[in-house]
Amino acid sequence: MSEDLYQEALQEFGRRLRRGQEEGLIRQPTAMTLATADDRGRPSARTVLLKDFGRDGFLFYTNRESRKGEQLAANSWAALCFYWDPYWEQAVVEGPVQEVSPVEADLYWVTRSRISQLGAWASRQSRPLASRSQLISEVAACEAKYQGSTVPRPEYWSGFRVIPHRIEFWTGRSFRLNDRLLYEKTSQGWTAKRLYP
Ligand SMILES: Cc1cc2nc3c(=O)[nH]c(=O)nc-3n(C[C@H](O)[C@H](O)[C@H](O)COP(=O)(O)O)c2cc1C
Repeated sequence: MSEDLYQEALQEFGRRLRRGQEEGLIRQPTAMTLATADDRGRPSARTVLLKDFGRDGFLFYTNRESRKGEQLAANSWAALCFYWDPYWEQAVVEGPVQEVSPVEADLYWVTRSRISQLGAWASRQSRPLASRSQLISEVAACEAKYQGSTVPRPEYWSGFRVIPHRIEFWTGRSFRLNDRLLYEKTSQGWTAKRLYP
């Protein structure tokens, strides 16, 4: 029964995301704010793209050596927040984060465009960059290096899954009487409850 509630939450998320993708009112319906915290509990946030979701979690790809990557190594819990403005809806997912296997990262890497692959090699994500022209010349150097061959996945470029312990849906309603529905994993299994807005 409680696992059914988890399934129900995932189905609800999928319904909302698909609507955003099909109706074309949102430029990037998979864009989500990813919040992480360092080992002292100091939070930081940025936008990343959701690549997949399901029972095993909500997947994004990034550079493990970035600021977020370092924070996740120190504190594996994260939160994701989607805001779908045309529908006046929000979805929040929280839980521990697990890195994907190298095989899974490789399988996704080969689906990416060559220019994204070269960009991943050229960008030392989150570290200081002297000038824009330096980045452009580093991309060109990577292009020359891999000319005529496939671009391998940098070891530091990987996928991460937020494994939900909380999924909350917020829906805007008139008179500020907004709906909040919280699915939560407890020691007894998944529960569902409404929250005051
Ligand atoms: C719409 C949008 C989508 C983005 N998608 C990703 C992504 O999927 N992965 C990623 O590493 N950075 C993505 N970024 C860049 C991040 O927001 C961020 O600048 C970068 O990952 C460095 O973050 P950090 O220094 O906090 O680690 C995206 C930015 C925007 C605005």
